[in-house]
Amino acid sequence: LVMEQQVKKDLFDTARKWVLEAGKTIRDAIDQPLTIDTKSNANDLVTHMDRETEQFFAEKIRAEYPEHFILSEEGYGDELKSDKGIVWIIDPIDGTMNFVHQKRNFAISIGIFQDGIGEIGLVYDVMNDILYAARRGEGAFKNEKKLLPLKKELRLEEAILVLNNYWTTPNNKVEDSKMQELIRKIRGTRSYGSAALELAYVAEGIVDGYITMKLAPWDIAGGMVLVNEVGGITTKADGEPINMLENNTILSCNKEIQETLLTDYIELKQ
Ligand code: IPD
Ligand code: CA
Ligand code: CA
Ligand code: CA
Repeated sequence: LVMEQQVKKDLFDTARKWVLEAGKTIRDAIDQPLTIDTKSNANDLVTHMDRETEQFFAEKIRAEYPEHFILSEEGYGDELKSDKGIVWIIDPIDGTMNFVHQKRNFAISIGIFQDGIGEIGLVYDVMNDILYAARRGEGAFKNEKKLLPLKKELRLEEAILVLNNYWTTPNNKVEDSKMQELIRKIRGTRSYGSAALELAYVAEGIVDGYITMKLAPWDIAGGMVLVNEVGGITTKADGEPINMLENNTILSCNKEIQETLLTDYIELKQ
C-alpha cells in the first residue's frame, strides 16, 4: 500500500505542528527544575519532560489517528510485534543527558513509517528552533532550506565522522584497534550526544557519517528518512538492513565511503 500524496502531506503538516508545539513547551520550561530519574543505570536519565512530551504526542495521535500505532521510548506507546500499518516512532527527547546537563543539543525525533518504510522524518533541534524535515521522495529540509544531495567522490581522508569515543576503547561490539586506525585515517571526529541530531547532520552534509553500536528504533527513525532523501544510506554496521522493531548497530553515511568503511574498518565482534 502506498501512502497517497495528499494524505502524506496532511499527516506531515499535523506531525510538524505538534513537534513545534511540543518543542515550544520544552523551551519555555527550560529553566524550571527537573524531576530526574535513572533507568537501566546511573547514567541513563529520564525526566518528567521526556515523559510529558511523549504523553502529549500519544494523546494527540490516539485522538486524531486511532488506527495508527506508536513505538516510543518512555512507555506511552504500543507493544508492537509487527511493522505493518502506520507507525509513529517517537523519541520525545533524544539526548536527555544533554537536556539535563547542557540544556541544549537535544531533539524531538519522529519517524512515521508505513509497512516498514519511512515516509516522514522530523528531527527538531529544540533550543535552536531548527526543524529538519523530510517526506519520502520529496527531499529533506532544514527549516525552509532544501538540503543538497550528499557530495560525490568524497574521500575517507577528507571525511568527518561522528563516533562516540566509547567505541574506540575495548568493548564487546566492535574491534577498537580498527576504530583507532579509522580515526587516524580520516580528517576528524565529532560526537554530539543526540543520535537524531547526528543523523540530521549527516543529511545536512556537515559530517560524512555516523557509526555506533547500539541504537533503539526511536533514536534513528526520523533521521533515517532525512538521510535517505539526500542520497545517503543507513544500515546496520555490517551493511545489513535495519530492523525497526529492535536495537541495531548503525552505519549512516555518504554512499561514497560506505564500502570502504564496511570492508576495511568496521569489524564487528561475536
Ligand atoms: C541517546 C542519544 C545518544 C546515544 C544513546 C541514546 P536518549 O538517546 O541518542 O546520543 O548515544 O545511545 O540512548 O536516551 O537521550 O533519548
Ligand atoms: Ca533515554
Ligand atoms: Ca534517544
Ligand atoms: Ca529519549
